[in-house]
Amino acid sequence: MDDAKRKFLKQTAIAMTVAGGAVVTIPFISSMRPVQTEQEYLDEHNALVDISDIPPGGMKKMNWLMAWNVVRIITVVRRTEQEISDLHFLQPLLLDPFSQDSKQPSYAQNIHRSLRKDIFVAINSCTHLGCGLTFKPDYAYERYGPDYWRGGFDCPCHGSYFDLAGRVYKGMPAKENLSIPPYHFVAENLIRIGVHPPATQASTEPKA
Ligand code: FES
Repeated sequence: MDDAKRKFLKQTAIAMTVAGGAVVTIPFISSMRPVQTEQEYLDEHNALVDISDIPPGGMKKMNWLMAWNVVRIITVVRRTEQEISDLHFLQPLLLDPFSQDSKQPSYAQNIHRSLRKDIFVAINSCTHLGCGLTFKPDYAYERYGPDYWRGGFDCPCHGSYFDLAGRVYKGMPAKENLSIPPYHFVAENLIRIGVHPPATQASTEPKA
């Protein structure tokens, strides 16, 4: 075998050894990476919601990954000044107007059930048996006039009504207000769902 041929065979053998080592080593190194915890996974996938396109009186829905393989639909409403003031007017008609027996973070346990009076965030599932809700912002909804209805959510399954703070009316199959997820404002028109606000944001927001 001449020198050139010997050199070629040697270089080929070295290259194959290196490639073979990489095939074995790379998956091994990958397996050494720390396994992602559920919280890290959720932090990575937490929904950032741009609400700049929601007009006053309007609503937007999006999916939220609440836990491993658990997706919830979130509804965000931008309430008008009139709708905010109606929240007080409706109190006598509601089962739990101050949300004492309902599920929400402490910063949403106020009449508006929200961090900001104008922006309402809730899980769009009826608290009776979990049906998705229909947004009904109009005053003159069905047979009820403005003395009873000032906009809110209607459950198509068994007819529970909720106001624009997700508070259930008296006499409905549902007995709890809509659940409020953890969330905070990253910017004026940007919300992160799934993460509680920094203490300063939670404490500076209006109480009822
Ligand atoms: S699931 Fe909504 S009223 Fe029954």
